[in-house]
Amino acid sequence: MKVLIVGSGGREHALAWALKSSPRVEELYCAPGNAGIAQVARCVPIGVSELEKLADFAQENGIDLTVVGPEAPLCAGITDVFLARDLAVFGPDKRAAMLEGSKDFAKEFMLRYGIPTARGRACTDAVSAREYIHGEFAAGARGIVVKADGLAAGKGVLVARSEVEATAFSDQCFEGEFGSAGSKVVIEEMLSGEEASIFALCDGKTITPLAPSQDHKRIFDNDMGPNTGGMGAYSPAPVVNETVSRRIEEKILRPFLKGVQQEGLRFRGVIFVGLMIENDEPKVLEFNVRFGDPETQPVMRRFEGDLADVLYKTATGDLEHAVIGWKETPAVSVVIASAGYPGKYEKGRIISGLEEAAAAGTVVFHAGTAEKDGRIVTAGGRVLGVSATGRDIAEAIANAYRGVGKISFEGAYFRKDIGAKALKKR
Ligand code: AMP
Ligand code: GLY
Repeated sequence: MKVLIVGSGGREHALAWALKSSPRVEELYCAPGNAGIAQVARCVPIGVSELEKLADFAQENGIDLTVVGPEAPLCAGITDVFLARDLAVFGPDKRAAMLEGSKDFAKEFMLRYGIPTARGRACTDAVSAREYIHGEFAAGARGIVVKADGLAAGKGVLVARSEVEATAFSDQCFEGEFGSAGSKVVIEEMLSGEEASIFALCDGKTITPLAPSQDHKRIFDNDMGPNTGGMGAYSPAPVVNETVSRRIEEKILRPFLKGVQQEGLRFRGVIFVGLMIENDEPKVLEFNVRFGDPETQPVMRRFEGDLADVLYKTATGDLEHAVIGWKETPAVSVVIASAGYPGKYEKGRIISGLEEAAAAGTVVFHAGTAEKDGRIVTAGGRVLGVSATGRDIAEAIANAYRGVGKISFEGAYFRKDIGAKALKKR
C-alpha cells in the first residue's frame, strides 16, 4: 500500500512512525513533512491547503490511502476533493468537519443528541453577547468561557473570570480579531474538573475509542500562563477510569454515531473529544475532527496492530473488522518549544543531541524542524516531542526527561511537570 500523510507536525511524525512499521506499507509520503518525518517518509513540497495539488499527487503516484493530519484542510474540504476523484482518504468531509470548524454547529449537534456539554448560547452581535455575559455574572457565575465561532488556531477561546474580561474578549471577536472566525461567538458556563482527550475512529457505522490521553495546554508548570497547542501528553489517562470510560461510550460516542447517521454526515476518520471530567462525569468541551497533537505521540507509542490497515478500513467503511490493541506500558511525550512560544519566537537555531536522545531510548518526534546545510534547525514554536515508555508512569516520565536532557538549542523551553497529575493519582 502507498500512503500519503498530509501535515508537518509532531502528530504527523508519530503517525508516520507507526505507519512505517506496518507490513502493508510499501511507500510512505508526507506533504509537506519536516526534518524528522524525512527520516521515515518521502517528503513532498506541497502545502496542506493546496488541495488540488495534493489530489494530483495522490492520483499520479497511485496513493492508496491519504491520512489528513490537521483541521484546516479538512474544514476546507480536502476529503470532498479526494472523493470526487475516487481517492481513499482518512478524514471527514467538509460538512462533517464543521463539528470542529464551528463551535455553534458542534453545540447544536450536542444538544440535539443529548451529549453532555457546558450550557451555552451563540450570539451574533456584540450587544447581545454583552447582555448574556452580564446576566450570567449577575446570576453568580464564577467565570465564563467565550469562544470565537470558527477556526482560530487555538487562540479563539478565553476562560474569563470577570465580566470586564469576558466582554472585552467578546468585543474583540466582533471587531474581527480572529477574522471571519469572530462573526459569531459561543458563550458558555465555565466547567471545572480535569481534562482528558479521547480519540475515537468512526466510519459512520462503527465507533471505536482509542487509548485515552491527557494533554498539558498551558505554557508554564502547574497549568499557568496562556494556552498553547499542547506542551506534553501521556497515555493512559488515569482520570478516565472504568466508570468514566463506560459513560463516554454511552453518553458521548454512541449518541455521536447516531447523530452522524441521522444527519447524513460523512465521517470516516477520527473524532477527538476534548473532555472535562468532574466526579466521574464527562462533559464535552469541544470536538476536533482529527488526531490531537501532542496526544497522538504517546497514543502511537502504545498502539499495537497494523495502523495502515486500521486507517484504511476506517476510510473505506470497514472499521468493524479492524484489529486494535494497546501496550500496557504507559507513554509520555514532553514538548520542547522555542522561547517565546505561544507568542513570538526565533527560528533557525541549531538543534543538538538528537542522536544521544535516541541512544537513551526515547523516540523524538519532530514538529517545527527543518534541515539547513546538513544540520537540523528549529522552524516553529513547538519544535520536538520527546517520547518514552516505562513499566509505570513514573518510569515513563523519568525516561522521557532523560531524553529531553540530551537535547539542546538556544532558547529551548519545556515544562518540567508533564505527567505530574497522573503520578498524584497512583
Ligand atoms: P476549546 O477549543 O473549546 O477546547 O477550548 C480550549 C480550552 O479552553 C480547553 O481545552 C479548556 O482548557 C478551556 N475550556 C473550553 N471550554 C471550557 C469550559 N466550558 N469550561 C472550562 N474551560 C473550558
Ligand atoms: N493538543 C490539543 C489539540 O491537538 O488540539
